[in-house]
Amino acid sequence: MPRAQIEKVAIIGAGTMGSSIALAVAKGGYPVLLKDINQEQLQSGLGRIEKFLQSMIKKGLSPAEAEAIKNRIQPTSNFSDLASCDLVIEAVLEKMEIKSSLFKELESHCRPDCLFATNTSSLSITEIASHLSRPERLIGLHFFNPAHLMKLVEVIPGLDTDEATIKTSLEFAAKLGKLAVRVEECASFLVNRLLGRYMTEALWCLEEGIADVAQIDKAACDYLMPIGPLALRDMNGADIGLAVSRFNYQEYGERFKPAPILEKMVELNWLGQKTGKGFYLYDPETKKRSDVNPELKELIKAEGKKDSFQVERLFLPMINEAFLLLQEHVCAAADLDPALMAGLGMRKGPLTLAQEIGLAKCLAELEKLCQEHGERFRPAPLLKRYVRGGRKSLLEPKSSPAAACAN
Ligand SMILES: NC(=O)c1ccc[n+]([C@@H]2O[C@H](COP(=O)([O-])OP(=O)(O)OC[C@H]3O[C@@H](n4cnc5c(N)ncnc54)[C@H](O)[C@@H]3O)[C@@H](O)[C@H]2O)c1
Repeated sequence: MPRAQIEKVAIIGAGTMGSSIALAVAKGGYPVLLKDINQEQLQSGLGRIEKFLQSMIKKGLSPAEAEAIKNRIQPTSNFSDLASCDLVIEAVLEKMEIKSSLFKELESHCRPDCLFATNTSSLSITEIASHLSRPERLIGLHFFNPAHLMKLVEVIPGLDTDEATIKTSLEFAAKLGKLAVRVEECASFLVNRLLGRYMTEALWCLEEGIADVAQIDKAACDYLMPIGPLALRDMNGADIGLAVSRFNYQEYGERFKPAPILEKMVELNWLGQKTGKGFYLYDPETKKRSDVNPELKELIKAEGKKDSFQVERLFLPMINEAFLLLQEHVCAAADLDPALMAGLGMRKGPLTLAQEIGLAKCLAELEKLCQEHGERFRPAPLLKRYVRGGRKSLLEPKSSPAAACAN
């Protein structure tokens, strides 16, 4: 039985995520051991934590509290130190062999009741756990970047994870001041699965020539997003976007098909901010965004009717995916909008949006788009059921998706 009470935490991997998770956990009052396979990486992780704390001081954290948080984080290079921990969170490279052999090693150093968590964004929790002699104590704790600022943590049990591990993990994430949302295991989990549909749709709109870069980004921001999808793609890198798109396509099929324009941009090394050119151009020194990339026009052969672009088009695939996800019982309907708002900074979630547009109108639009463009707009059976049943919202107390599916 894993520990019900977490008192000391170890973070393995001091890279982008590990360092900010260490800070989030120390900020929550827990003593933290931070370990990396590479001593230089460990030192740069500690340096990043120092910088984060300095910027938190500028925003009002007292220097004494910053010092206390910093002192709660202790670097280590010895596995034997982990014997005193109740929870180990892994944030190493996204490779099954690396993660599974790390957890096997951890099993020989940690107490049998120590909880194991992985911060993987795409690997199967069940598969990682299958390498352990006690798979029931492993769970996904998916923090968002930067973990000390982002509110959401997806808590993802694998097939073998036991209830005690799930309960303790949800409580632990809540004690860090996070919105802890239970998500059943599926490719890309909750937020990134829905984000993927929206990001890809923005690329299809561009590809089909129905809107240009500035129009798409402005429409999304004016509507409900903190940043446009194409500016976000440039920020995260077209190469990363393409890898994620291909992964989702392989897992879910046609509706996640990557837009060809992304493949062409990766071939041309137009990766976004990091190469100075993507959908926009960037200053090589400051990385500040300037104009829309003028050469992009050459990649877009189609000439659609720009005046027919409606911003809802970007969000209909996300709404539809939300219904598919609820149909699969990936999360509770009541958790979906808050998770998207906390994870992506949306001003409202897809279920609220669907209710505002009208479920019947969403369905009619999807059916029309499905006739024109095929599979990626095929309406979710759960959405059809709600419309046929005359329901106006998924958020009504009486409308449980489980009940609707059972009909
Ligand atoms: N970067 C993101 O935005 C993000 C968001 C959510 C989840 N994730 C996931 O978090 C994990 C880490 O991603 P990242 O962006 O921090 O990667 P990163 O490359 O910045 O850091 C990985 C760190 O792990 C260390 N490492 C590798 N093997 C190790 C081992 N056996 N033992 C100890 N340390 C080891 C490396 O030296 C490096 O410091 C990945 O699984 C990734 O998918 C990333």
